[in-house]
Amino acid sequence: MRDLNFSYNSNFSIRDLSLKIEKNSIYVLTGNNGSGKTTLLRLLVGLLKPESGTIKIFDEVLTRNKKQLWKIRQKIGFLFQNPDDQLFAPTIEEDIGFGARNLKLDESEVKKRVKWALESVNLTEYRNFSPFSLSWGQKKRAALAGLLVLKPELLILDEPFANLDFKSVCNHLEIIEKLKKEEKMTILFTTHNIFFVENWADKMCVLNEGEKFFEGTPREGLIQPKIKKLLGNDKDILNLIQKNRSI
Ligand SMILES: Nc1ncnc2c1ncn2[C@@H]1O[C@H](COP(=O)(O)OP(=O)(O)OP(=O)(O)O)[C@@H](O)[C@H]1O
Ligand SMILES: [Mg+2]
Repeated sequence: MRDLNFSYNSNFSIRDLSLKIEKNSIYVLTGNNGSGKTTLLRLLVGLLKPESGTIKIFDEVLTRNKKQLWKIRQKIGFLFQNPDDQLFAPTIEEDIGFGARNLKLDESEVKKRVKWALESVNLTEYRNFSPFSLSWGQKKRAALAGLLVLKPELLILDEPFANLDFKSVCNHLEIIEKLKKEEKMTILFTTHNIFFVENWADKMCVLNEGEKFFEGTPREGLIQPKIKKLLGNDKDILNLIQKNRSI
């Protein structure tokens, strides 16, 4: 992304933003609530149109050409922040298979991938359930499985860990690492949890009010006092606990 500018019909805008995501890396977009993470993801896949600036994806400059957008989106798996935006088929199994069938894969290949995806996210026993009868965390896992079957080159995950229990978080992290190593995918995810940035990102970008605050490795970034101050950390919570105990 180079020199991107964008604004909603509100007072929020993305200003002069440039960043580079290397192939086969794990790139994390972080920043506080409302800093523009989801907006940036939507710009990247052409769901929003920048006012100025350029986006290059898979070595092609992104235009508004429908054919090009379709071609590019075939190579991208996008996990929405809210899984209800993603699930629609009568059963989980059909939902997960939908994208793979759209790719016109062999039915035996579709079945193989669906089985693998269901196992990967631990939802095999829920395969005949309606997506709407699942809990939030289960829906999030089902939505991820729907992307896994596509084996995309670029996997974009918006807050993949929000509202998941610890076991599911570990499970998702293992999946992400495996996709990078074995499937050579590029993975871009957003989170405001520094722990995941520190331990899983090859590179990170910190956004603040629509502007790039930092881009680099977590090692370089997370020791900077200005970033610690902006993002806050678990020490702030410990201080609060201690303050409450002393009252
Ligand atoms: N459709 C919209 N119309 C107007 N303003 C919007 C719209 N969507 C988002 N915004 C505003 O843009 C800003 C950035 O929102 P965005 O969803 O990109 O933040 P975020 O970093 O993803 O936050 P979170 O961590 O809460 O997911 C917010 O101030 C929000 O109110
Ligand atoms: Mg968001």
